[in-house]
Amino acid sequence: MENIAWHTHRVSKEARSNLKSQKPCLIWFTGLSGSGKSTVANAVDALLHEQGYHTYVLDGDNVRHRLNKDLGFSDSDRVENIRRIGEVSSLLVDAGLIVLSAFISPFTSDRRMVRNMLPEGEFIEVFINTPLDVCEQRDPKGLYQKARAGEIVNFTGIDSRYDVPENPEIVINTAEMRLKECTQVVLDYLVEKKLPRNSELDEKTVGNGL
Ligand code: ADX
Repeated sequence: MENIAWHTHRVSKEARSNLKSQKPCLIWFTGLSGSGKSTVANAVDALLHEQGYHTYVLDGDNVRHRLNKDLGFSDSDRVENIRRIGEVSSLLVDAGLIVLSAFISPFTSDRRMVRNMLPEGEFIEVFINTPLDVCEQRDPKGLYQKARAGEIVNFTGIDSRYDVPENPEIVINTAEMRLKECTQVVLDYLVEKKLPRNSELDEKTVGNGL
C-alpha cells in the first residue's frame, strides 16, 4: 500500500493471549444454510465461555446486517463477504481470542484464503456435513421454499454451488448426532490439539507458586 506504513503493536498477540491463559484460534464452521453451523458454534462458544475462555462468535446472518450489508449473494459478493470476515476473524485471533465463525463459505478458494491468513494450526475447519434434503426439510427461514419457487436466485445448494471441503479438521453431520455430541466432537479436537488452554503457561504459573 502506497504511503501507508504498518505499525507494530507494543503488546504482542502472545502477551494478550497469555493474559487469558489461552491459545487463540479460529474455528471456522462451513456448510449449507440450515445445516446447523450457528447452532453448533454457539453451543461450543457457550461451553468454552463457561470454562472461562474469552471467545467471540461471528455469523452470516448478523454480519450481513451490519459490516457486510452492502453485499448480496453473487459469487463475487460471497468472495468479498468471506474476505472481510476472514480479516475480522484474524484480527480477533490476533487480539488473543478464540473465534468461532459460522458462514456458508461455499468456495474452497475462499476458505483456503482465510486459512492462509492465520499461522499454521490456528485455523480449524469444521464441515457441517448435513445433507441438502435435511437442510431443505428443516428450512428454518423458509428460504429453500422461496429458492425452489424461483423467488430467490443464487441460493446455495439449489442454483449456486457448494464446494465440499477436501481436508477439514472436523466433519459433523447434525442429522445423525444430537447437539451435545456435535459440541463434544469439537471440544475433543481442541483438547487433543492442546487448545485452547495454554497449559505450558499454566504449568509455569503453578511452578511460580502464583
Ligand atoms: S456466504 O455464502 O457468503 O458464506 P453467509 O453465511 O454470509 O453466506 O450467509 C448465508 C445466510 O444468508 C443463509 O443462512 C441465509 O439465511 C441467507 N441467504 C439469503 N439469500 C441466500 C442465498 N442466495 N444463498 C444462501 N444463503 C442466503
